[in-house]
Amino acid sequence: MKNKVEGFSKLSKLEKINWINKTYFHNNHNSYNFLKQYWTSDKELQKIHDEFSENTISNFLLPLGIAPNFLIDGEDYTIPMAIEESSVVAAACKAAKFWRKRGGFKTKIINFKKSGQVHFIFNGNVEKLNIFFLKIKKLLIKDCQKISHNMTNRGGGILDIEILDKTNDIENYFQLNAFFDTVDSMGANFINSCLEQFAKTIKREALEFENFSVSEKNIEIIMSILSNYVPECLVRAEVSCPIEDLDVESELNPNQFAEKFKQAIEIAKTQKERAVTHNKGIMNGIDSVIIATGNDFRAIEAGVHAYASKKGYYTSLSDVSIENGVFKFWTELPISLGTVGGITSIHPLVKWSLRLLKNPTGKDLMKIVAVAGLAQNFGALSSLISSGIQKGHMKMHLINILNTLNSSEDEKNKLIHYFKSNVVSFSSVEKELLNIRNNEL
Ligand code: MEV
Repeated sequence: MKNKVEGFSKLSKLEKINWINKTYFHNNHNSYNFLKQYWTSDKELQKIHDEFSENTISNFLLPLGIAPNFLIDGEDYTIPMAIEESSVVAAACKAAKFWRKRGGFKTKIINFKKSGQVHFIFNGNVEKLNIFFLKIKKLLIKDCQKISHNMTNRGGGILDIEILDKTNDIENYFQLNAFFDTVDSMGANFINSCLEQFAKTIKREALEFENFSVSEKNIEIIMSILSNYVPECLVRAEVSCPIEDLDVESELNPNQFAEKFKQAIEIAKTQKERAVTHNKGIMNGIDSVIIATGNDFRAIEAGVHAYASKKGYYTSLSDVSIENGVFKFWTELPISLGTVGGITSIHPLVKWSLRLLKNPTGKDLMKIVAVAGLAQNFGALSSLISSGIQKGHMKMHLINILNTLNSSEDEKNKLIHYFKSNVVSFSSVEKELLNIRNNEL
């Protein structure tokens, strides 16, 4: 208990850092200067960052890369990607260039609905509950008018509400399941505010509903919250070309490439050990764009993986067909995101990224994100079925090792050249670097 601290959030940034220094670094680390080097010199900008969340003491930087040459539904895009992992942006660039010459990526919004639930316990007659719901349905929506006014003006709002009997899962448990269109916003605040209002209306009206017995009047609200599972907010991205145009990797002729690619997808469709890694590769593309555009990657991740399990087992998020000499590769993904609201109009790099993407609508961004995921998957599979993933990875890994060992630009160039034909490992790089340094003495 000796590290317990009271009122920590009220301390200034300096006081917080001092407390950490004293408590965890025995006052022998210059944490203040260390953390300060990541603050921006622009005080206004720093304040914006400080206020995004709580107890902020510094900024945590991620590289922002860009992948040009994407042709999506005939439009040119350069996609911003915030990611620390090497090779991801390079793979996106390569896939963009490849498919650009073959008609580019085609996308489609399949549907655009989000949902949220009021979870409640009703100990009584289900028929009466259904009658009660039909009676108050209009009122539920009316009571939300103040909340939904702006959203309705923007073309969205509450789409529908239904009662779901879940008593087979949990005793006396029901849901008020509501559907929303949140247009260009992710809409979390809007949906949650509506749901909390629905809960209040249910509680209030149940007390007044004369058909209910005393115990039935006492509906117990457990919670009201949106769902990050959005199988009805679905986007499809696709590429296709004649098989003979699949001159992707020098090791494989187009037919071999198509067949091996299909096998790789079949494996991901049937083997969860592979499916998880396969989908992780897709998420490399998705998350990096989601982060660059200020969206909630945790929500997208949770929803996408639940969707990957919708058949009752975890499977690949992408699929391929080879028919009549045509190779077609696609993904369908549930992605709920926003281009207005949240931090999209506050975070300077997010604003910049959205501008780079020509200020997309929510639907446009869904398409771009899905394309980034598909491109990433194409890049990963192309390498995996030909030269293997380590060739590209090791080059970037080498640079990371060289940076860790504080090598100069000259040393880096020499060693990049040397390791073109030698196996990279931390110890081999360290040894060669030492050789260079000793020879120069
Ligand atoms: C690495 O971040 C992603 C890959 O493992 C994806 C895959 O295996 O398909 C290369």
